[in-house]
Amino acid sequence: MEAAAYQDLRIFSGNAHPDLARAICSYLQTAFGACEVFEFSNENVFVRVQDNVRQRDVFIVQPLVSPVNTNIMELLIMIDAMKRASAGRVTAVVPYYAYGRSDKKDQPRVPITARLLANLIETAGADRLLTVDLHAGQIQGFFNIPVDELTALFMISRYFKDMDLKNLVVVATDIGASKRARNVAQSLNAPLAIIEKRRLDNDDESQVLNVIGEVEGMRALIVDDEIDTGTTIINAAETLKDRGVTDIYMACTHPVLSGSAAELLAAAPIKQLVVTDTIPISAEKHVPQIEVLSIAPLIGEAISRIHTGSSVGELFRMDPDLAASVPQTMARAERG
Ligand code: R5P
Repeated sequence: MEAAAYQDLRIFSGNAHPDLARAICSYLQTAFGACEVFEFSNENVFVRVQDNVRQRDVFIVQPLVSPVNTNIMELLIMIDAMKRASAGRVTAVVPYYAYGRSDKKDQPRVPITARLLANLIETAGADRLLTVDLHAGQIQGFFNIPVDELTALFMISRYFKDMDLKNLVVVATDIGASKRARNVAQSLNAPLAIIEKRRLDNDDESQVLNVIGEVEGMRALIVDDEIDTGTTIINAAETLKDRGVTDIYMACTHPVLSGSAAELLAAAPIKQLVVTDTIPISAEKHVPQIEVLSIAPLIGEAISRIHTGSSVGELFRMDPDLAASVPQTMARAERG
């Protein structure tokens, strides 16, 4: 390992997902940073850093989950507090980046909120961003600071590799998800099928138009970046059943599970749903089919490498067989 460019590493968390921050600290064998983050009765967020962070290498863990807008404000105010306390460097660790679907002006008079959010994080004073499976990789370009985007998909692939499912086809929920699904299919040595999906309006409804590829008589593994209302995946599962798929598995990085998604999924024809803990899942949303893999070792390893100035890219270049034999840190990703 190279020498650290900054003084000691400090991990802090807002109120979005302290369990994940604790798991990252435990991977790194470092103490959890002390910081008060709370709302006054007028809903103004207040932050007070209780540790000395002068010249320290600070990492703030805050996925932008429900309540999304409050968690965004917490992150921005924490960054500001760290900078004003003379932190040497501040990295925003945002395992789930909200507003990722507002990434282009695809209708007249609409905002590009993913870009606005990037501007806010930078203006608050973040020096770097560490994130996981952005909705669209191009969001990296909304930042003028370095962005490290990790992927959970190879960790998830390894889980399915160990299950050794025969006669498997990997299915992308739409054309946009096909690159991700292709990477999973490649690492599982399985063919790829793609669902042609159409969103009807700005509401959460989506409609399946067609399935491209052979699926009849096969087991399907549906891959997506997130499950929000669940309509995409449930429509996909029902269509695949109609097309003669025998068993349906589902993998996604971010279990947003908004509204009644959990209830709908529990009743859907899905054998197993594999997700990560980039987003906390409350007990009532813990559907029987769900298996949660921890993203903490992957994020912990990336933090350690950022701190010591060693390559984060190497996390994505590991030989897949070697990757299978080491802890969840060594996932392999192929971009393109
Ligand atoms: C959309 O482009 C995404 O990749 C997901 O398919 C989408 O976010 C899932 O949303 P929902 O669960 O509400 O259908």
